[in-house]
Amino acid sequence: MPYQAQVRETGKVIDLRDGESLLDAATRQGVTAIHRGCRGGGCGVCKVRVLSGAYALGKCSVAVLPPDERGVGFVLSCKTFASTDLVVSTEAESQDR
Ligand code: FES
Repeated sequence: MPYQAQVRETGKVIDLRDGESLLDAATRQGVTAIHRGCRGGGCGVCKVRVLSGAYALGKCSVAVLPPDERGVGFVLSCKTFASTDLVVSTEAESQDR
């Protein structure tokens, strides 16, 4: 079942196809607020924070998405697959370390 992801800062709504990552959907619809990098869960460029909604997360590098960030909703959008509608934030940068 397709879902939607809304980008809080812009109000832009991204349509998510079945099995499509948040990043791929954003790219397909020209949403540049979510940045595109390796697409493999390794670089962290596509990191956003999910403010509401449920999702499955594929394999992500612990170096760029440590457990404490994951625990408060940060995700790598290239490895994020929605299971409900989502609201995401592109502004809430993680604590760079
Ligand atoms: S694009 Fe590199 S981790 Fe998502």
